[in-house]
Amino acid sequence: MKDAQPTTVLLKDYRQPDYWIDQTDLSFELGEERTRVEAILRIRLNKQLHKIDGGNYPALILNGTELHLESIHIGDLALGTQDYSLDGEQLTIKVSDTEFELRTVCFIEPQKNTSLEGLYKSNGMFCTQCEAEGFRKITYYLDRPDVMSIFSCKITADKSLYPVLLSNGNEFERETLKNGFHSVLWRDPHKKPAYLFALVAGDLEHVRDSFTTCSGREVTLQLFTEQRNIHKCAHAIDSLKRSMRWDEEVYGREYDLDIFMIVAVDHFNMGAMENKGLNIFNSSCVLASPETATDNSFQRIEAIVAHEYFHNWSGNRVTCRDWFQLSLKEGFTVFRDSEFSADMNSRTVKRIEDVALLRTAQFAEDAGPMAHPVLPDSYMEISNFYTLTVYEKGAELVRMIHKLLGKQNFRAGSDLYFERYDGLAVTVENFVSTMEDASEMDLTQFRRWYHQAGTPVIKVTDEYDSSEQCYRLHVSQSCPATPDKKPKQPLHIPLAVGLLSSEGSDLLPDKTQMLNLTDANQSFTFEGIKEPPVPSLLRDFSAPVRLEFDYSDQQLAFLMANDTDGFNRWDAAQQLSVRVLQRMVDAVVAGEPLVVDWVLIDAYEQLLTAPRGHIPPRYCQNPVAR
Ligand code: SER
Ligand code: ZN
Repeated sequence: MKDAQPTTVLLKDYRQPDYWIDQTDLSFELGEERTRVEAILRIRLNKQLHKIDGGNYPALILNGTELHLESIHIGDLALGTQDYSLDGEQLTIKVSDTEFELRTVCFIEPQKNTSLEGLYKSNGMFCTQCEAEGFRKITYYLDRPDVMSIFSCKITADKSLYPVLLSNGNEFERETLKNGFHSVLWRDPHKKPAYLFALVAGDLEHVRDSFTTCSGREVTLQLFTEQRNIHKCAHAIDSLKRSMRWDEEVYGREYDLDIFMIVAVDHFNMGAMENKGLNIFNSSCVLASPETATDNSFQRIEAIVAHEYFHNWSGNRVTCRDWFQLSLKEGFTVFRDSEFSADMNSRTVKRIEDVALLRTAQFAEDAGPMAHPVLPDSYMEISNFYTLTVYEKGAELVRMIHKLLGKQNFRAGSDLYFERYDGLAVTVENFVSTMEDASEMDLTQFRRWYHQAGTPVIKVTDEYDSSEQCYRLHVSQSCPATPDKKPKQPLHIPLAVGLLSSEGSDLLPDKTQMLNLTDANQSFTFEGIKEPPVPSLLRDFSAPVRLEFDYSDQQLAFLMANDTDGFNRWDAAQQLSVRVLQRMVDAVVAGEPLVVDWVLIDAYEQLLTAPRGHIPPRYCQNPVAR
């Protein structure tokens, strides 16, 4: 029975497991009525937690849901009901050794599994989804990401119904059996947590390609889908190859198996999933035909293929210690796929799209009843934490670290992170402190971003002193209260600022200067500024905050036409357009004629005809009736 009362899981209660599973050998016999799952687990006592003397070992408690247990063996010994106990969620086994082999046989009914977690059957094909806690619906296991194991998987099925049998790693052995059955054995040489396990069986076609890695290894690429969709795969394969090259060039990450497979499934609920060597996608995230797909859908596919591929390092090789750390893999990987898309397409347009999503959806989440920190400290149901805050705000936090460290130090930090933690399950804290070690940057205060919910508000005012030729910005930061009622402390916020002359050129020596906000109220002075500048604040949206500055219409029009920062140019245009529209709405309500303010029309003229031009003030208040 599932507990009637859902329990709350607390980050502070984290403790390592009592046992490790070094080796996991799975064997599936796929059937129409029931599927047999045999699991042989090489289990070892966690000696860091438990002394080996005395022989008084803790019970082994395995997760398992909706499984029909047929038999349990330890070594050659069949266990009786006196040796274990079973409830709907757990199998508890008495242990008398520090290392042993556990063999369980279970039956499951994938054709009845409508949760789309674990192993399920849809459209005549078998498919898995194990993140976050789906593996426990396949067999009894320590279903937690800090238990990393070497997996093999043998799949046996009717060859006419399921000619394609896939799992993680490299194909090792293939056999033709009696009665029209066949089997394939897969071996994955890399340790992984159970949430990255995958199995696919069905009647699928595939397209094949190859990629030569930076060290000269040839990797086979395969994209599997139904026959009717086979002509829609080219863009995904091309995106995959560009992702593989980009990860080598930008992060020094090489692919690590002989084969990389993508499967497109119509009924797949996660969007896409980064299972080791066998990514599974909802068809809409992979398939596109040039005749019908929009540019937008081409770019979405490119981004999702890249995202799942990049997880091979940020998520799979280095994984999460527990699900509180979800943003360790998701925030970092969203940042990586966003930079990839920026490099493949327009950097400014990509930034605008990301910020639009953040402002419209994540800011709303952060301002509502679901507000939670990027690194939550408690949850009742982890599947509810696949949120915009964990993914998109998490990516913004990594982006801020990138901005604070600079490109070179960030790369040194990511190299060190992948080297230190390869094959391990780690924490956000491990990531942040590695970034500090590689750069000598102090991120102590920056860490608050991970624990504090809500969107900070930055209020800026300015003053110009013509006698001293100096310009000042006064900045305050605050954060609205969130449902957790925790006090809000000042954050370390990188505020990228440019100052524009009346000619539209940057006045600061480096064009953009990064101001480090750390206090509730701060002032910044810029010397040698010979004229009152127009400030361009929060360039490239350098932090996920709401910015308030009292721009005049003329200043916004000026920024729209002249700012050297593409994002702020767009943002100024948005702000000005919204103002003009609001005034028009007010006019309609008041029964006045509908007019478009010339300031906006003129700004567009400047934008289109003289991108660097200066807006002549004569147009600034000349509304024309339409
Ligand atoms: N881990 C999967 C992904 O990020 C599901 O959300 O794509
Ligand atoms: Zn992801």
